[in-house]
Amino acid sequence: MQEMTYNTNSYDTAVEISKKIETDIVNNPSKYRVLTGDRPTGRLHIGHYFGSLQNRVRLSHLGVPTMILIADYQVLTDHDAYQEISQNTKQLVIDYLAAGIEPSENVIIYPHSYVPEANQLMIPFLTLVSNAELNRNPTVKEEIQSAGLKSVNAGMYTYPVHQAVDILFCKGNVVPVGKDQLPHLELTRTIARRFNEKFCTNCAPVFPEPQALLSKTPSIIGLDGTQKMSKSRGNAIMLCASEDETAALIKKAKTDTERFITYDPVNRPEVANLLMLISLCTEEEPEAIAAKIGNGGGGMLKNMLTEALNEKLRPLRTRRKQLEAEPAYIQQVLNDGSQRAREIAARTLDEVRSAMNMVI
Ligand code: TRP
Repeated sequence: MQEMTYNTNSYDTAVEISKKIETDIVNNPSKYRVLTGDRPTGRLHIGHYFGSLQNRVRLSHLGVPTMILIADYQVLTDHDAYQEISQNTKQLVIDYLAAGIEPSENVIIYPHSYVPEANQLMIPFLTLVSNAELNRNPTVKEEIQSAGLKSVNAGMYTYPVHQAVDILFCKGNVVPVGKDQLPHLELTRTIARRFNEKFCTNCAPVFPEPQALLSKTPSIIGLDGTQKMSKSRGNAIMLCASEDETAALIKKAKTDTERFITYDPVNRPEVANLLMLISLCTEEEPEAIAAKIGNGGGGMLKNMLTEALNEKLRPLRTRRKQLEAEPAYIQQVLNDGSQRAREIAARTLDEVRSAMNMVI
């Protein structure tokens, strides 16, 4: 087996390919199948909304078949708190629907633990990668380090293979993700290629080699002005926050000592981040917003952001409240999605078993 390397040129290549897909997908939505996913570790925040949710809604409305997967098994790799998985799964569905995802035959939401036919692909896939390849996955290494794990379970090293299962069981060919997921996509392509080369000598290739669709939104910094927004860092505004909670959080956001507001991401990252958030809500350029505020200072900047964000999220939050009162509907969305995913997975598993010469 030829060993795969994680090469540093791959980011530029991924950006190029992503741009091409972005242009083509608008004109040829049916050529693509989007597969995206989140771990059910909590509710979503505005970083998720602007960074990925909005994009998923847009793609699904273009008519691209869109599979939204809830990676519940993956939670076990670095979290002990399995008690919260089902609750978090339902909250994720509520966030998706409130943001505008409309489940249908072609837009489905499901937890990957509900699709046994897909999970069965894990066994042949594991035979297509080496231990060395799994050990040097940079994202896995980073996660092990940042979670401060004392001992690392084998699920942690192998979840990228399971992610390949997530993507390939439905022959997903576009995966909207952030940069940190690129090594997993590279592994997914490797597995697809090796499977096709090894087992599809007498049949058509079973799997596509999926590509990343990289988000155009720059990663959103938290209200502390230093790190990426994340619930665990306590620097996030949750989608489910009330308008008053949103105002209080923004009031405490870090700015700087200079009164006159300018958009200068390099020298004034905190102020630039708040301007960028306003810009994401109002679709005005951040420079123009800064010019409007000028001497109004940090106070005016924060008031503007509070107003813009609360207004932008108002319909989502109203819908969110309604959905929280409809648990049977949420359950139904998950049941329908899981059933549809199982049908798709069963077909792929048949092809896979037949290619591997296991049908008697
Ligand atoms: N690994 C992703 C994360 O940590 C979640 C995930 C699991 C995923 N399976 C996926 C993302 C398939 C995209 C496609 O956030």
